[in-house]
Amino acid sequence: MSIAARRLAYGLGAAVLGVDPSRAQDAATVAAIRAAWLEHLVLVFPGMDMTVAQHVEFSRCFGELEAHPVAGLRDEDHPEMFRVTNRITNGKRSETAEAGRVWHSDGAYTLRPPTGALLHCRARPDVGGDTWFTNMYRAYDTLSDTLKGIVDKLSVVNDLGAIPATKRRDPAKLAQALQENPPVVQPMVRVHPETGRKALYLSEAVTRRIDGMKEEESRGLLQYLFAHSVRPEFTFRHTWRLHDLVLWDNRCAMHLAPPDFDPAQLREMFRTTLVGEPMGRALAR
Ligand code: OGA
Ligand code: MN
Repeated sequence: MSIAARRLAYGLGAAVLGVDPSRAQDAATVAAIRAAWLEHLVLVFPGMDMTVAQHVEFSRCFGELEAHPVAGLRDEDHPEMFRVTNRITNGKRSETAEAGRVWHSDGAYTLRPPTGALLHCRARPDVGGDTWFTNMYRAYDTLSDTLKGIVDKLSVVNDLGAIPATKRRDPAKLAQALQENPPVVQPMVRVHPETGRKALYLSEAVTRRIDGMKEEESRGLLQYLFAHSVRPEFTFRHTWRLHDLVLWDNRCAMHLAPPDFDPAQLREMFRTTLVGEPMGRALAR
C-alpha cells in the first residue's frame, strides 16, 4: 500500500493519506509511516473513528506501549490509554483537564522518556482546543556554534513538581506521584537514535534549572532557550477535527495544549505512549 505525506507547516508536521489506522497494517505500510514520522516529526491521520482496541493495535505497530508514569492518571480498564479530558464524572473534574498547558516533551521528568505518542480526538469544542508542536532539531540547528558548544555540555534538572497544573491536583495523589517520580537529570541536547541528528531537549513545564547551577543562575539561559525553541517558524498548530489521530516523535518535538477554548465544552483526547530508551540519571540529593 502506498501512503502520501502532505506537509502542513514549514516547521514540522504532515498529513498522511491512504492509511486507515483502524485496520491492520502490513509491514510495508508501517515502514512507510515510520519513515514519514522520522522526516516530519508529527503525522496527522485525518478523521478516523476508532475503538480503544483499534487505537492500541495501531499504536503497537510503532513499539511497545507504556502505562502513564503517574499511577493516579492510568485508566483502570486500559492502563496503556491516557485520557486528556475535562470530563466531569460524579461531580469531579478530571485530573487531566489542565494537562499540557506548558511546552513539554512527555515524560521528560522520568528516566525513560517515551519515543512518541498517538493522540486521538474523541470530543472537541466548537472552536479551539488545538495542539501546538515545535521542532527541536531546528531549535538546536539555529543556535550559534558558540552556544551549541555550551549547550552540548549541559544537563538539566527536570521535576514533575514544577508543572503548574500539579498544584490543582489532589494533594495526596500528587505527593504519591512526586515520590514515585523524583527529579532527574537529562542532557540538554540529545542525539536522536534513529536519525543521528541533535535536538535541543528542554521542557519548560518541568525543567527547573541547569544541573550544577542554582535556579537564579540558570534562569537567563533557560528562558532564552524556552523562547527560542518555540519561534513561530519552528512550529505547527493542529486544529483538531473529530477523530483525527496524531502521532508525534517525542525525542525531537515538544507540544503544548493551549486553553484556547470554552472550558464548559467537552474536549477529550485518548493517548497511547511508546516506551523509550533509558536516559538520564537520578538527581543526587
Ligand atoms: C499529551 C498532551 C496535548 C493536548 O497528551 O501528552 O500534552 O492537546 N496533550 O491534549
Ligand atoms: Mn504531553
